[in-house]
Amino acid sequence: MTAPTTSFVTHLECSETGEHYPAGVLHGLSRAGAPLLVRYDLGALAKAVTKVDVAARPPDMWRYREFLPLSPDIEPVSLGETMTPLVRVPTVEKRLGMEDILVKDEGRLPTGSFKSRGMSVAVSMAKAFGVKRIAIPTAGNAGAGLAAYASRAGIESFVFTPADTPDVTASEIAFHGAKAWRVDGLVGDCAAIVAGGAEEMGWFDLTTLKEPYRVEGKKTMGLEIAEQFSWRLPDVIFFPTGGGVCLIAMWKVFRELEEIGWIDGPLPRMVAVQSTGCGPIVRAFEAGEREVTEPWENVTTRIHGVRVPDPIGGRLVLDVLYESNGFGTAVDDDAVTEARARICAEEGFHMCPEGAACVVALEMERASGRIKADDRVVLFNTASGLKSPMPPMNRRLPSGRAVDYSVL
Ligand SMILES: Cc1ncc(COP(=O)(O)O)c(C=O)c1O
Repeated sequence: MTAPTTSFVTHLECSETGEHYPAGVLHGLSRAGAPLLVRYDLGALAKAVTKVDVAARPPDMWRYREFLPLSPDIEPVSLGETMTPLVRVPTVEKRLGMEDILVKDEGRLPTGSFKSRGMSVAVSMAKAFGVKRIAIPTAGNAGAGLAAYASRAGIESFVFTPADTPDVTASEIAFHGAKAWRVDGLVGDCAAIVAGGAEEMGWFDLTTLKEPYRVEGKKTMGLEIAEQFSWRLPDVIFFPTGGGVCLIAMWKVFRELEEIGWIDGPLPRMVAVQSTGCGPIVRAFEAGEREVTEPWENVTTRIHGVRVPDPIGGRLVLDVLYESNGFGTAVDDDAVTEARARICAEEGFHMCPEGAACVVALEMERASGRIKADDRVVLFNTASGLKSPMPPMNRRLPSGRAVDYSVL
């Protein structure tokens, strides 16, 4: 299948061998079985658009259109991907003696998570290539994103999630019209079903990093941060890391921005936040390894977004940590549950567990000294807190009777 002529995309490149692949053709992994990365003519791009042009455009992710792979004649499959705000967390700042902690709240996006950025671009491209059926294995949020954007595009979608995916997300996926299945197992078991069905079902496999365009959509997180910080980046970025696409994507676009001279000053240190109950990237980083050689055996974490025992892009994520002088850090589930409840009640900011994991990681690393009091830090809240279970609330009052206000 071929797509209309590309805009600034020159080619795609195997992230392992550097082999080139033509743009304008539907791709999965490279011949070496590695993710493909999209490359642009950055010189031409820089001549075509300025920061001032971008600033004058509507406040959504399509203001960065030149950095995305859609050619001008492709209409984006869009549900209104608004720019997301940077929210202060004053009680956290006070506890840590810091003055500059901002949380990028991705819960404001369609389907309530950052996944819509990648899905909007990937589904737009798939539609342009004439894809009629897509399948995905997912911890949940990516499936919700795919289901929504596929319905919007008139594409059939099949979504496979681990059996214990939160009910609200599992229902959301089906409610958006996907053929949704809970699988007794982890996301790797879901991925095996997608890979195994490719021939018989004829679906396009949208597994994390198995196609090249979700990364491109997620670059818009890095572009927004750069613009929101007036093109001087923060010192450190914490991201809750499962497959690691977002770290890869943000680093990719920071490099692209550096190459065209849009960024003043150094690039941030990138921090991968995982769990003590599933932390293959942190373990590999601490061992000084270049890739994840051993899958995490005993997955116990309840933080769904980071439950990826064998990330396909492990090497690329580790490259980002080493190149950026960042690190990986693993948090405890109970500390995350406590932090989420505390921040929700004390600050009115309802984070998802993955976002709260970043707060716990920052608290740990401030104590360890890896983060300094005057560091300018961005944490990611990757989804709306409303998508994850909350403690039940069962207090009742009878109506029509005198109320004993002293017990309220
Ligand atoms: C809420 C949430 N946060 C973080 C992640 C991890 O993102 P990535 O796979 O890009 O590392 C996920 C992935 O499912 C998620 O749903």
